[in-house]
Amino acid sequence: MMIEPVVDIFVDPAWIEQALRADVAEGLSARPKELPPKWFYDDRGSELFDQITRLPDYYPTRREREILEREVDVIAERSGADTVVELGSGTSEKTRIVLDALAATGRLRRYVPFDNSEATLRNAAADLAAAYAGLAVHGVVGDFEHHLCHIPGGGCRLIMLLGGTIGNFAPAARKDFLAAVASTMAPGDTFLLGFDLVKDPDRLIAAYDDPAGVTAAFNRNVLSVINRRLDADFDLGQFEHEARFDPDEEWIEMRLRSRCSQKVTIGGIGLTVDFASDEPMRTEISAKFRPEGIASELASVGLAMERLWTDARDDYALTISRMVG
Ligand code: SAH
Ligand code: AVI
Repeated sequence: MMIEPVVDIFVDPAWIEQALRADVAEGLSARPKELPPKWFYDDRGSELFDQITRLPDYYPTRREREILEREVDVIAERSGADTVVELGSGTSEKTRIVLDALAATGRLRRYVPFDNSEATLRNAAADLAAAYAGLAVHGVVGDFEHHLCHIPGGGCRLIMLLGGTIGNFAPAARKDFLAAVASTMAPGDTFLLGFDLVKDPDRLIAAYDDPAGVTAAFNRNVLSVINRRLDADFDLGQFEHEARFDPDEEWIEMRLRSRCSQKVTIGGIGLTVDFASDEPMRTEISAKFRPEGIASELASVGLAMERLWTDARDDYALTISRMVG
């Protein structure tokens, strides 16, 4: 029998407006200017990300799916889970691979998607509740940095962060995030983390700068979000999409580069900002990792890596860990 999904909302329009105001005021006053990537994902941004995952050169989604399909029975067995908590769940597409394997063990009871994009989460929650009879879907619309403490406890939980989303945190924020995840874990819970591996920069650039311009549209979408929510007048055509690999940091940096000298007014916060011609504004980092680096970051928050799997081309990795002791 289908169980109606329950959705708790912590990121609502009022929260978004207040948090976006603060981020835009701070980011546009910084040198160099920057905007946090969490603001890409309104309905249009979530749809554009979904299109990105199908682009020929955007390999992470396909590689992660390959590993999940190959290793899911081992993951289900090791986790012993009756509950799947998915952080940054988006459309929850790959989730079905995990839910199917847990359903086959007869243990699956509950799915907890957590995302800041309410419409995307509600659609995914409804689809999964309809597809898995008897599955209790308890969604949480929240922000990684503020609302992890509202994730429901109980049962034996497999907590997942897929897609390489861990790479979108700056190093200090990543550490805080992993510590917050670890602090929500009870004995018996496991953490399944997907991360992209360091590789040939040309392949990375191709993944983040597609010829069809989908990634460029995704990148510029953050300006539409600010225009709509904060009454700003960014002219999207005057900002060029750029993806660069930083070999020291081992991350892709996405930027929007001002095509001319221009003034932008953000009416909602009474701010006017000057952009010089060619001035870059950072909109996302997407860090690429080495397994030993991830093992030590997990260890620093008390998580021991139990298994690590890569795809056939060593492009991408998944690891399962649990609290030490
Ligand atoms: N896990 C999916 C989606 C990855 S895209 C996959 O593997 O394909 C990243 C997801 O994280 C998006 O759905 C976005 O809405 C969500 N997200 C980004 N920043 C967030 C934040 N600060 N708090 C909560 N969710 C966030
Ligand atoms: C969601 N995240 C892991 C994607 C990435 O690859 O860093 C977002 C993205 N940005 C550009 N393309 C995809």
